[in-house]
Amino acid sequence: MRRQGGRILQQASGIQRLIDNLLLVFRIRAKALPVEMTVEDANDVASEAVQLVLADPRVRGASVSLEGPPSRIPVEIDRRLLVRALCNVTTNAVVHGGAGVNVRVRVASGRGTCRIEVSDDGKGIDADHLDCVFDRYYGGESARGDRAGSGLGLPIARELVELMGGSLDVDSSPGKGTTISIEFATAE
Ligand SMILES: Nc1ncnc2c1ncn2[C@@H]1O[C@H](COP(=O)(O)OP(=O)(O)OP(=O)(O)O)[C@@H](O)[C@H]1O
Ligand SMILES: [Mg+2]
Repeated sequence: MRRQGGRILQQASGIQRLIDNLLLVFRIRAKALPVEMTVEDANDVASEAVQLVLADPRVRGASVSLEGPPSRIPVEIDRRLLVRALCNVTTNAVVHGGAGVNVRVRVASGRGTCRIEVSDDGKGIDADHLDCVFDRYYGGESARGDRAGSGLGLPIARELVELMGGSLDVDSSPGKGTTISIEFATAE
């Protein structure tokens, strides 16, 4: 009975996430998403995202570490939207990486740019799927498994980052892991 209740709650939160993501996609497409740019410390934004991810029941007990320099890295972004993009890719690393995956969020700066890398040592994405992961509703191999998602998290993350003037790229090797790199110009 309790297990059934847990499953119903899990499904309900999955539906809620899908509705949130669909709303976001429509707002982005209609250019109706308010973007509030402020100068923030990238370390601080990454730390907020990691804390939120670790509080997600799907991620409970996973290994997610955060590395960054002691100094501030100012970037002009919409804090809420960057947190959302980082949460999407960090959650992906845990959910799709496979059992025992280690996830590292690394913030670095150099030559006027700030780079936030979310890397994992999980199962990776094979070349055929890599071409499609930014297609909305794709969902990759997992779309056919019991971990089925809506296939919106990664396209949304890239669109949000681009909306703020940054870029988001993926590098992945099957069996070795995946790295998502997000880059912005530094603000000062
Ligand atoms: N770190 C990763 N390791 C392995 N596969 C990944 C990783 N990140 C993304 N993927 C693959 O890319 C697909 C697309 O990711 P995306 O976040 O867009 O969708 P999703 O996670 O399936 O669903 P949701 O919309 O709920 O996020 C995933 O289904 C998965 O197959
Ligand atoms: Mg996802």
